[in-house]
Amino acid sequence: MDLFNVYPVNPINIVKAAGSTVWDEQGNEYLDLYGGHAVISIGHTHPHYVKRITEQLNQIGFYSNSIEIPIQKQLAQLLGEVSGKEDYHLFLCNSGAEANENALKLASFYNGRKKIIAFTKAFHGRTSLAVAATDNPSIIAPVNETDNVIFLPFNDEAALQAAFESYGNEISAVIIEGIQGVGGIREASKSFLQLIRSLTTAYNAVYIADSVQCGYGRTGQFYAHDWAGVEADIYSMAKGIGNGFPLGAISIAPKFKASYGLLGTTFGGNHLACAAAVAVLEVIKQDNLLANATEVGDYLIAELKKFDQILEVRGRGLMIGIELPVELAHIKKDLLVKNRIFTGEAKPNVIRLLPALNITKAHADQFLAALKERLEQA
Ligand SMILES: Cc1ncc(COP(=O)(O)O)c(C=O)c1O
Repeated sequence: MDLFNVYPVNPINIVKAAGSTVWDEQGNEYLDLYGGHAVISIGHTHPHYVKRITEQLNQIGFYSNSIEIPIQKQLAQLLGEVSGKEDYHLFLCNSGAEANENALKLASFYNGRKKIIAFTKAFHGRTSLAVAATDNPSIIAPVNETDNVIFLPFNDEAALQAAFESYGNEISAVIIEGIQGVGGIREASKSFLQLIRSLTTAYNAVYIADSVQCGYGRTGQFYAHDWAGVEADIYSMAKGIGNGFPLGAISIAPKFKASYGLLGTTFGGNHLACAAAVAVLEVIKQDNLLANATEVGDYLIAELKKFDQILEVRGRGLMIGIELPVELAHIKKDLLVKNRIFTGEAKPNVIRLLPALNITKAHADQFLAALKERLEQA
């Protein structure tokens, strides 16, 4: 059997990792500023994380949600505390798409409506509703096509206001990333998020903050939406929550009432996944990683803005987009091949930095020196 070939891959086999360093099978060392797509939040093979998962696996790795799993409650309590949402409720699943799928379903159960507002360049995942709310027709299968999702221009307050005025009582939910990731590191403006909050409240629609990529401390606040001083009704998360252990979640405002069978999953919230997630939050809290994301992120952004050849530097904290002119689109590949630095990309020519939240200023300097070299030789 061969693999179903859907990923264009770099010809690199990583066999070892520690913190923000990874090694290939030839022993070459790389700096990881990509974190396997914003997933590695506390660094690869963090000793506390490895210890907790190992201990848990030696006790019990999995049982279904048909029994008591106390570590779920421990996780909920810790997440409530670190995210500042102690009165919210936690539902655990397995991925970002599944988190958004459940968030959109829950919204529709709540207000009995069908219409969803999403925005241009949004990415919310590949399951049926999540992909229907994703602004990329090439990944929407015919069976996923629906008239229930309405795309509005990102950050366009007049368009949002007009949509609510025309059919506000039909809108179930507004789903938005605080900073669009796949869309090229584009931040929702504070006033736009505030308008979403006030319109969804006025029309009894649900504000879903997709925090799968921009959440979990990446921007220096727990949720990127926090920068606007608003509280969403549902926060979806995944990626950084498990530092590589597959795990997703939604944090749900108290106004939503649970009932048996409303949502469900076989794997979500299993012992091992919860051990991974608890370890991540313990490290985030103990090592004050939100402050580090702000500090190193601010430094990187300020330094990057000094390069003349860069068209624009966008983002916040450790979610940074570097927009290059078309003729310099090769720089991302050069950084990997010539400087052994992993970065992410957004099409067509944005370098995305999504490193672990505990990278150091020395890592930032290593990247800045490599980028300077690449730009000088371009
Ligand atoms: C903002 C956002 N939402 C949802 C998803 C989907 O997450 P997953 O790939 O875990 O299903 C992603 C993945 O990149 C994402 O960036």
